[in-house]
Amino acid sequence: MAIILGIESSCDDTSAAVLQDTVLLSNVMASQDVHKAYGGVVPELASRAHQQNIVPVVSEALKKAGVGPESIDAIAFTRGPGLLGSLLVGTSFAKGLAVSQSIPLIEVNHLMGHVLSHFIDVLNPEGERVPASGKRPDFPFLCLLVSGGHTQIVKVKAPLDFEILGQTIDDAVGEAFDKGAKLLGLEYPGGPPVDRWAKQGNPKAYQFAKPHIKALDFSFSGVKTSFLYFLRDRVAEEPDYIAHHLPDLAASLQWTLIDILMDKLVKAVKMTGIRQVALAGGVSANSGLRDRMQAEGDKRHWDVFLPPLRFTTDNAAMIAVTGFFKWQAGQTVGLDVAPVTRTAAFAE
Ligand code: KG4
Ligand code: ZN
Repeated sequence: MAIILGIESSCDDTSAAVLQDTVLLSNVMASQDVHKAYGGVVPELASRAHQQNIVPVVSEALKKAGVGPESIDAIAFTRGPGLLGSLLVGTSFAKGLAVSQSIPLIEVNHLMGHVLSHFIDVLNPEGERVPASGKRPDFPFLCLLVSGGHTQIVKVKAPLDFEILGQTIDDAVGEAFDKGAKLLGLEYPGGPPVDRWAKQGNPKAYQFAKPHIKALDFSFSGVKTSFLYFLRDRVAEEPDYIAHHLPDLAASLQWTLIDILMDKLVKAVKMTGIRQVALAGGVSANSGLRDRMQAEGDKRHWDVFLPPLRFTTDNAAMIAVTGFFKWQAGQTVGLDVAPVTRTAAFAE
């Protein structure tokens, strides 16, 4: 049995979580509102905010878990991918704590963390360990990993054995949500407001060109461009066009993005014969995508795994659970470990 402290600081949320093996004891998050005014994450401001937040966030996580620093068996931190200045804060903190407590240090790939969020357990009222999302996939399973920086279909053969079957050749789908939202005059990050407006709109109101990309790879930059030109032409004729059609615009954009994802996921299931299909990453919070995954799954006899909403966007619980699997496998690192802004996916 192990107490694992997880630290996540790859982008604009500072998070710390404590797990006992795979069981969640606490997961604390400090979001940075400072970026809203800029319409995107400002790296310098992000690293400064991480510096301010990291000590109180870790203290709070330990307090909520009811454990002292001396009880921690290992510390897992996000090594990358992410923003260098932000990653450095978490990495340095983790190293300091590892030295002061003489405990092993475990580096975690952020993307692997998103996928393994499906293995976070909680205790039910009877004190039994149950998956936080209600059920857990068996190996091998497919995972559609959709975040602000990545879009991939991954074959997960074992907790630490991943194979990328397809990925975006340009923008990530989260980026497409964010850029589309910006064109609509919505706040950053753009996924949540597009999701909200889309609920009131007609997803078939407009058609935006879908790309033709080989095999299981994705492309989202074409949709963004076609959306941009469409809006530009309409606004030239009618300056208030966006305000008058916001729900339909959001719903149609979201529908197109989801369609692109689902086309490839259906193809991946056909190619691999694997019918256990999971969703992970920040965009997996999208209600339209979750509904569509479930509907496709019901229609096609897949077993669909949706992460609990609190584990969709960046959080340290997913880093800690990945840390637990690596701790079990004896995969610890030395103090000379450095953050990596772009990782060759799932590489050590
Ligand atoms: O995983 P994440 O928190 O950070 C990265 O690792 O990138 O993902 C952030 C992305 C952003 O692009 C954000 O707009 C998107 O997740 N997102 C959503 C929703 N909530 C967050 N996209 C669509 N619908 C949502 N409800
Ligand atoms: Zn993420």
